[in-house]
Amino acid sequence: MVDLSINIGRLKLKNPVMVASGTFGYAEEFEDFIDLKKLGAIVSKTVTLECRPGNRVPRTCETPAGMLNSIGLENPGIDKFVKEKLPVLKKSGVPIIVSVSSEANPREFILLAKILDEIKEVAAIELNISCPNIRPQSQISKVSRLISQDFNATYEVVKAVRKATKKTLITKLSPNVTDIAEIALAAQKAGSDALCLVNTFIGMSVDIDTRRPKIAAATGGLSGPAIRPIALRMVWEVYNKVRIPIIGMGGITDTESAIEFLLAGSSAISLGTVNFVNPKAAEEVVVGLKAYMAKNKIKNLKNLIGGLRG
Ligand SMILES: Cc1cc2nc3c(=O)[nH]c(=O)nc-3n(C[C@H](O)[C@H](O)[C@H](O)COP(=O)(O)O)c2cc1C
Repeated sequence: MVDLSINIGRLKLKNPVMVASGTFGYAEEFEDFIDLKKLGAIVSKTVTLECRPGNRVPRTCETPAGMLNSIGLENPGIDKFVKEKLPVLKKSGVPIIVSVSSEANPREFILLAKILDEIKEVAAIELNISCPNIRPQSQISKVSRLISQDFNATYEVVKAVRKATKKTLITKLSPNVTDIAEIALAAQKAGSDALCLVNTFIGMSVDIDTRRPKIAAATGGLSGPAIRPIALRMVWEVYNKVRIPIIGMGGITDTESAIEFLLAGSSAISLGTVNFVNPKAAEEVVVGLKAYMAKNKIKNLKNLIGGLRG
């Protein structure tokens, strides 16, 4: 028997395999394809204070070994989410991590955290300060960047939310920075229990017949296997600098790529784009991880995390 359990802050997971925000809907879309109870946790699509219609279409396109998306955080708003989506998510029987965002007014993060803090079905809060598809106008940093592209803004937002909730707090970082470890340290210093990396890389694709960008918003976030080696390098760099656990993601498609992220220092891993291609992928990774650990006589997942040889 191998022990796949892991704690992320006060969040107890029976295994480290999660599904990433925005790529698993509100779980009900997947219940015919995968046994949801087998997952370590589900991260909800990012929710904002007010509902958002999202960006103009087309919002997605395929790229070599990946995809671009510019959904623009389409969501029903926190009230409707709590009333209609959370009960459905909870039926899955696994911990639900609620992803929240606001770039236009970072103080909304505090309101969102206070609302979620009251709800026992919410296992943890993920701060999405790294969505590349909404126009950033950070009032804290006073610059036109994402919160997670600025050390001080990251620190201020995480610190303010930390005061507003006792729930496990996970900060999701952007890879569109020069030094991701520096931003990770800001989140840690401000009291984040864990880090989640990475969000998508800003990219672009052009239709040469129409001579227009394939995404209406011109740019979108690149995800999928195309980003895996860069995401993995970022996880490894951050692991070597911080004390708090990392949830690693970026192009994980199968057991082998999941184990790469664990060895590089992820305490848990999250599957995103692959869910559109193989909705059973996360369940398969749980099975594959167990088999790998048994074969290599690794009794406890903790003995695998950060186990990269130099
Ligand atoms: C269609 C789509 C929608 C996404 N929506 C969100 C979102 O709402 N919130 C968020 O934090 N990340 C969102 N992401 C980013 C993913 O959660 C993940 O960080 C990223 O795609 C990298 O992982 P992957 O390569 O396994 O997809 C989205 C990604 C895709 C492809």
